[in-house]
Amino acid sequence: MTTQPDRSSWLQGPAAQCTPAPTPIVPRWRLVLLGAPGVGKGTQAQLLHQRLGACHLSTGDVFRAAATRKDCAPSPAMATALDYMRRGELVPDTTVWEMVRERAGCLRCAGGFLLDGFPRTLNQAESLSQLLRAENLPLNAVVDYELPVAEIVSRLSGRRTCTSCKAVFHIANQPPQRENVCDHCGATLFQREDDRPESIKVRLAAYDQSTAPLIDFYRRQNLLVSIPATGSPDEICSRTVAALYQRAPLPTVV
Ligand code: AP5
Repeated sequence: MTTQPDRSSWLQGPAAQCTPAPTPIVPRWRLVLLGAPGVGKGTQAQLLHQRLGACHLSTGDVFRAAATRKDCAPSPAMATALDYMRRGELVPDTTVWEMVRERAGCLRCAGGFLLDGFPRTLNQAESLSQLLRAENLPLNAVVDYELPVAEIVSRLSGRRTCTSCKAVFHIANQPPQRENVCDHCGATLFQREDDRPESIKVRLAAYDQSTAPLIDFYRRQNLLVSIPATGSPDEICSRTVAALYQRAPLPTVV
């Protein structure tokens, strides 16, 4: 499994510190990963972290971390957000933006960032643009992963996640060595509630209606890099890195 850096500040909020603190990286990449649910953004974010150093910041991971915290019950706003997520619907913009704004320190991080699952609506994209402009933290690119719907549904319905270390498997494409047991830590695998057929339908519809318009939004800003998400995860990652380095100029050290 690819090792994730400590993402405490992102997963638990600004009161938590990442240990060790990320080291400054040059070039420092600031990327958004776009693409339908299940296209492989999380898988790519982990591989891109290894290649580019930037930290994987997923809004879905923040919600899932809040759902499994044993030390405190979720706030009323978070409990409502989790209900939206279980149904496969988008969490309201105000809740998502509040959560991201609270974690703006992660966007300033000297290690750079890979935003996965955010922004997901035009409102969120506008809010992010304003924040990044105010902080003088320009995006380097927005990577849009493309895959036929049938393959997306198959990736989502076959996904299994480790209850403990959160490693991701697929029953056909990337099966664990022992059925339902994590190769890395031995814990049990589970199927995400929103990977059931009725939620998958809702998620794909939400993507078409609210997230797909971001492709044009970022194309107009000359930030869009479209990548076919077919082939093995390593092939897709190499394709992504090659496309990013083809763009000029290289990331600044701001
Ligand atoms: P989130 O966690 O962001 O889910 P998502 O965008 O639906 O993406 P997924 O995590 O399902 O898929 P992925 O593209 O990362 O694919 P993966 O790499 O796992 O959001 C969940 C929910 O939270 C949302 O529905 C919403 O309710 C809420 N939410 C989050 N952010 C929000 C926001 N900003 N605004 C509003 N609401 C928000 O891969 C999938 C499977 O495919 C795995 O099994 C993997 O092993 C397999 N696979 C990956 N790559 C390959 C490959 N190349 N070949 C074969 N199999 C592959």
